[in-house]
Amino acid sequence: MDSPEALSPARIRAALTEKLGPALAARFEPWVVAETGSTNSDLLAQGRDHAVAEGRVLFAESQTAGRGRRGDPWVSPPGTNLLFSILLRPGGPIAAWLRLPHLAGIAVCRAIESVLPGLEETPRLKWPNDVFLGERKVAGILVESRGGLREDGSPAPFAVLGIGLNVNLPPEAFPEDLRSLATSLSGHAGHRLDRNAVAAAFLAEWAALYPAALEPSAFGEPREELRRRSFLTGREVVVFSGNRQIAGTAIDAGPEGELIVEKTDGERETIVSADGVRWA
Ligand code: BTN
Repeated sequence: MDSPEALSPARIRAALTEKLGPALAARFEPWVVAETGSTNSDLLAQGRDHAVAEGRVLFAESQTAGRGRRGDPWVSPPGTNLLFSILLRPGGPIAAWLRLPHLAGIAVCRAIESVLPGLEETPRLKWPNDVFLGERKVAGILVESRGGLREDGSPAPFAVLGIGLNVNLPPEAFPEDLRSLATSLSGHAGHRLDRNAVAAAFLAEWAALYPAALEPSAFGEPREELRRRSFLTGREVVVFSGNRQIAGTAIDAGPEGELIVEKTDGERETIVSADGVRWA
């Protein structure tokens, strides 16, 4: 018998069914592996087979080649945090897929609030893809897409949403160079959390938010939440985008989740994507 702290598809499914009821919970197909290279890479490979349905969720207790944005490694000790990816087949205009990481960020924030109801800090979103508690990163999001094909040769692009959420990593276990930059849920709660319950909380929030990625006119409410949860708004920033550096004050979230910066020359720029952001 494995420990009650171990991730298991049955426990995740049970917790999710309690939240969503059996019909909605059945939209997700949780899998757990002890070790893999990267859950994103695995689902990017599996998604090419059109028979693999949207909603497959692959959790790993450990990754040997976990990837962050810009090719950075994502490192997490085995059996401690949540490392998972979801296969998505949103259809619709690819432009709307830019919403996916923003919606995922909101779902992570809401899930944190649901598992830690007494939390003092509001979980915030550091554009474009990070979730912060206080001044430290607690989760990272990596969305990747591929152009798959159906059996008849017609295009069937798909996306993989990958999330690394620090759940039970004690603050002293962070490598020295990350200690002032990263945090975990247990570090804030003062106790360990059941990762199955945290996973189910995320999936329940994701089920509620995902339709907004598919509906052209459905981003109004998420945009308001991005505004409310923005970590950068009001801060001095330098945005690195290709060989450009855009310096100014972050002032708003755009209609599709873009970052709006008032530059030092007073002009406003709406930034869709970036390699990195430095803030003061
Ligand atoms: C970032 O902040 O740079 C994004 C980190 C994303 C990490 C997750 S862990 C699960 C999934 N598999 C990966 O290889 N990466 C994502």
